[in-house]
Amino acid sequence: MQFLKSLFLSLVLLASAHADELAHVSSPDGQIKLTVLLDAEGRLAYRVERRGKPLVAPSRLGLLLANAHQLDGGFALASQKTAEHDDTWEQPWGESRFVRNHYRELLLDLVQAQPNNRHMGLRIRVFNDGLGFRYELPTGARITDELTEFAIAEPATAWWIAAGEKPVLEMETQRTPLAELGLANTPLTMRTQSGVHIALHEAALVDYSSMWVRKVQGQTLRAQLTPSSIGAAVERKTAFNTPWRTLIVADTAGGLYESNLMLNLNEPNALGDVSWVHPGKFVGVWWEMHLEQSSWSSGAKHGATTANTKRYIDFAAKNGFGGVLVEGWNIGWDGNWVGSTSAFDYVKAYPDFDIAEVTRYANAKGVKLIGHHETGGNIARYEQQMEAGYALYEKLGVDTIKSGYVTDAGTAQFANANGRGTHFGFTESQEGVNHFLHAVQEAARHHIAIDTHEPVKDTGLRRTWPNWVSREGARGQEYNAWGDPINSVDHEANLVFTRMLSGPMDYTPGVLSLAGAGGRTLNSTQAKQLALYVVLYSPVAMAADLIENYERWPAAFQFIKDVPTDWAITKVINGELGEHATLARKDRRSEDWYVGAITDGKARSVPLPLDFLTPGRRYRAEIYRDGDAADYRNAHRFDIVIEQQAVQSTDTLTLRLAPGGGEAIRFTPL
Ligand code: NOJ
Repeated sequence: MQFLKSLFLSLVLLASAHADELAHVSSPDGQIKLTVLLDAEGRLAYRVERRGKPLVAPSRLGLLLANAHQLDGGFALASQKTAEHDDTWEQPWGESRFVRNHYRELLLDLVQAQPNNRHMGLRIRVFNDGLGFRYELPTGARITDELTEFAIAEPATAWWIAAGEKPVLEMETQRTPLAELGLANTPLTMRTQSGVHIALHEAALVDYSSMWVRKVQGQTLRAQLTPSSIGAAVERKTAFNTPWRTLIVADTAGGLYESNLMLNLNEPNALGDVSWVHPGKFVGVWWEMHLEQSSWSSGAKHGATTANTKRYIDFAAKNGFGGVLVEGWNIGWDGNWVGSTSAFDYVKAYPDFDIAEVTRYANAKGVKLIGHHETGGNIARYEQQMEAGYALYEKLGVDTIKSGYVTDAGTAQFANANGRGTHFGFTESQEGVNHFLHAVQEAARHHIAIDTHEPVKDTGLRRTWPNWVSREGARGQEYNAWGDPINSVDHEANLVFTRMLSGPMDYTPGVLSLAGAGGRTLNSTQAKQLALYVVLYSPVAMAADLIENYERWPAAFQFIKDVPTDWAITKVINGELGEHATLARKDRRSEDWYVGAITDGKARSVPLPLDFLTPGRRYRAEIYRDGDAADYRNAHRFDIVIEQQAVQSTDTLTLRLAPGGGEAIRFTPL
């Protein structure tokens, strides 16, 4: 018996080891090669090599269906097509103006003869900096889960956050051996023993459930679709494509960040002229509420009063900020608004807030109100009132809305399909994914841009819907006001090469007071707060601190006033996962360059070669650097040196970053 069993096992192993090479496709530069394999049972797998070395060991492909036999095994190749694509497209706004989209494509038509001749397409695109593949189904399907695997060949370390947990997407990054991964969200960033950097994520998440990944054995990861509370994870009635499963591959952490693979795997702009989308900076009635100096709720401490908002409008107008965010102006903040039972009203203001007067006042001063729609995760209620809420804002000239979905994992509230009652589910479920995009599409009809807080993760959809300007989707500055604990000193250095690989983040930097509520002090120097504007990209960026704090530190505040939020070119000068990062970006509307550098808890000396500047030209460098004694652990966190220097492209500056520190520089041609 034992003998037969082991004979059977070795035959199975032999069969899988001898999977045939069905087809392959290489990157335009020939360095990355993906091979599709088919074993004796007609099971599909793929493997990836980079520069001739295994990157992804043979990994399964397939789907588990609820309404039909699984799409795993019994496959034969019906046909295959290859193609090459190379063009450059322009972003309406972004980290860089022009994006090159260069890949080789392989499209396989696979057929499962039994039981009823079903076809499945597998489309693969290989770029010089990674790859994506997706399944293409010619009919509808009910998908319970994916069988897609990612078996990372070489021992690796992983930087990841837990999936399906509270607070959704807002945890500190865990750094573990890849073999110790739990249920993780993506982007999941890895560095192999030999120094290859890999980011696993998905692109174009549309009408599908969000992908989590978990370790099945060794370093083999398996996709796990966010479950639905009402049916299969994915329910599609007609032909569809899954999102792209993506791997960005680079020699350095910076290489991961500079990749445009995510955007390239999304469809082009579906909105046409989006000149009504305005990148820019804003201040707002916000940090004071997180500090509990005022409240979202009504009463004596109410923050969103007409008078208080006008104070911010005056400050914005005086200092060149285009926007003023106001939260807590609308009915619904009294009682427990956190959680999907909240009863927000998106058109009715509290009596001490005159929205018509506030917007009139703002518009007269050339400032726009930034609207706010907190849902508490009650998506059912929001979908009923969303249209009225957008229409009101449009009428008042408000063209950007920050939305919010504060609720626990799995407790967002959705309307039942029959129109009666509601059910609870994950915001990352197919229903949640559909809601977020629906909200953005409806907003587009009103020429309104959306900045989603507590969102589903970003998968590059801003290319197709450029009014989806930003998201939170990670632990933001707000934790420094009330978090227990507050953000760790390496948090932002982690974000750059993990969360930021998915797209813009509304982190709300710029807390120059370095103080949260209840005596909390930020794990940051003042210079680092400035550097974050360059390092953590968002086309809509908040100057988060209180007016009086900006008035107290006017010299440092100058950088926040100057720094743009829309870029022509972005370069990562250097950086290591979770340790430090230096980014240089060229302003889209001038010849100025900006540099931001941040470090974790360690002091570092980082060279900054200025070869990104135009040769032969002289620039004034306005430098905001950590003072010699600066240290996030004591009162010297405020030590900042602001100085000027003439430089040119052949120079190299040395950035001396304090523990928890940073440096910000503006370069202006002389
Ligand atoms: C959480 C958001 O991240 C924060 O910015 C906002 O102030 C609160 N929710 C209230 O909506």
